[in-house]
Amino acid sequence: MRIYRADNYQALSRKAANIISAQVIIKPDCVLGLATGSSPLGTYAQLIDWYNKGDLDFAEVRSVNLDEYVGLGPQSDQSYVYFMHKNFFDHINIKAENINIPDGTNRDAEAECWRYDQVIERVGGIDLQLLGIGRNGHIGFNEPGAAFEKFTHCVNLTESTIEANKRFFASADDVPRQAYTMGICSIMHARKILLIAAGKDKAEAVYQSFFGPVTPNVPASVLQLHQDVILVADEDALSEVKAHGLI
Ligand code: F6R
Repeated sequence: MRIYRADNYQALSRKAANIISAQVIIKPDCVLGLATGSSPLGTYAQLIDWYNKGDLDFAEVRSVNLDEYVGLGPQSDQSYVYFMHKNFFDHINIKAENINIPDGTNRDAEAECWRYDQVIERVGGIDLQLLGIGRNGHIGFNEPGAAFEKFTHCVNLTESTIEANKRFFASADDVPRQAYTMGICSIMHARKILLIAAGKDKAEAVYQSFFGPVTPNVPASVLQLHQDVILVADEDALSEVKAHGLI
């Protein structure tokens, strides 16, 4: 594992965008695994900026997103497909047919999860998976207790995740109770993983995930078993790691 320390969110976003752009330049038709949430917003903004300056070309890039709420589709401004278009895809030259996101409007969970696993296989697997991390150590929607051996599946969201995500909805009651998510196994099959973490409220999760025991109770701790993981974090997110004298 490599750790890049960033002074602040802007520096973190720039570093993460640098790593993604290196991937795109080295392999123009690479498969990027992408995430939603607050953490990658700055990274996407930086990539858009470099694209506008002519430094990056996404014409051949393929993408697969981590997850989507069950019941939400492109028309819903809380859906992850909407988020990705608004914050990234609509501003770069990625081809519509190269964008892949679980289809939240498909209520047949088994069929949708199977379809999505086939999509990931058909594009040849993920070259670089971008991840945020939940306060409880979740990655994608793989909550504490998630089995490490799962591919795409349907999950019931925990109260803590509903609480954390309600900021994007009118109220906690409006947050969908289920999501389709790549499983830990799907994520671990990515050839490279880039996890970004910002802010004090991620400090314990970062410490437990990268320096605690590998356990399903902290889903991101499984990343310790991956051979190519980069953590880009700001000083706040690294504060517990520092407090333990580990960096
Ligand atoms: C998003 C995702 C989630 C988030 C995590 C952190 O696609 O799968 O695991 O990465 O909840 O969210 P933020 O970045 O909003 O703190």
